[in-house]
Amino acid sequence: MVRTTLSVLKADVGSLAGHNVVHPLQIKAAQDSLKDAKESGLISDFYVTNCGDDLELIITHKKGEDNSEIHNMAWDTFKKAAKVAEELGLYAAGQDLLCEAFSGNLKGLGPGYAEIEFEERKSEPVVIFMADKTEPGAFNLPLYKVFADPFSTAGLVIDPTMHDGFRFEVLDVLEGTSFELNTPEESYDLLALIGTTGRYILKKISKKDGTVASRVSITRLCLIAGRYVGKDDPVAIVRAQHGLPAVGEILEPFAFPHLVAGWMRGSHYGPLMPVAQRNARCTRFDGPPRLIALGFQIKNGKLTGPSDLFDDPAFDMTRAKACEVADYMRRHGPFMPERLGPEEMEYTTMPQVLEKLKARGKKEE
Ligand code: 13P
Ligand code: 13P
Ligand code: MG
Ligand code: MG
Repeated sequence: MVRTTLSVLKADVGSLAGHNVVHPLQIKAAQDSLKDAKESGLISDFYVTNCGDDLELIITHKKGEDNSEIHNMAWDTFKKAAKVAEELGLYAAGQDLLCEAFSGNLKGLGPGYAEIEFEERKSEPVVIFMADKTEPGAFNLPLYKVFADPFSTAGLVIDPTMHDGFRFEVLDVLEGTSFELNTPEESYDLLALIGTTGRYILKKISKKDGTVASRVSITRLCLIAGRYVGKDDPVAIVRAQHGLPAVGEILEPFAFPHLVAGWMRGSHYGPLMPVAQRNARCTRFDGPPRLIALGFQIKNGKLTGPSDLFDDPAFDMTRAKACEVADYMRRHGPFMPERLGPEEMEYTTMPQVLEKLKARGKKEE
């Protein structure tokens, strides 16, 4: 049995044309860095891409999750790409690298990551989701549907190996507490939590025998920095087939472009638009928020692929709907619910505006 770890690590280290796209020379710097790591034997394989202004490192290795050598190498790779950004004068160079020095693990340093260590099955299909201009809670709704909604995932009803349901781990990012809930028996409790997408975040989904099916990156940059530093554009890994949802079942919930937080200045709601990787370029009002999905097969640590899964006319209607919803939401301008609620605005510059006006406030009789 081959044990492999799949790590997807991401950071916005600066981009071309405001917060639009990672520059090709940054991609090249990351590829060169990972090539060295592969030649040295540290990692088994890699693939570098971007979702908008977020640089995405997809890596396979044998070191397990939260490994300091792997994280250190990823940190150095992000630093190299940030240096390119500085040299070219790209926008927000080093944006997500919140600390000066690496300290053992990427947790709390700014970059986001999702990792799964698993025993490779005879055939190991995985789907890697990467998003721009949104936050980790954006995956709550679709991943609930993938693993718990029989109207979306047929296998929950007709595949005896999925009929038992799944176990969901939810993190309360404000309190730092996590909860484990089983579906279908505790679906309503689970939904009561994860409907609050800015606070309760689906972090991990497993089969009831412990087989890990999915992981979501859960950095909340604003909570680390205590001020607005860009949204925590998330990534998620989902393993597919053979006792787990089929690839098509994993993609199905994304045919609905649900509203997510993170559009323009991280302060607005917009529809999550699934696109081909080449179209992961946020433009209108710095959006609408984009999502890409790359499919790979993993064999002895080698990555075969990707298949660009949303590069498909079957999602054209979803994209058209997303444009229509974007128009509708934008008409609200600075008003809620297009603009986020006050709790979420706390980490923007809004408190400074309120502070400035405080002295002018008059008590009403
Ligand atoms: P195949 O018969 O092509 O393997 O498809 C099975 C499946 O799960 C499709 O959703
Ligand atoms: P990013 O989080 O993708 O850098 O976007 C920042 C922003 O506020 C764009 O409007
Ligand atoms: Mg940016
Ligand atoms: Mg981004």
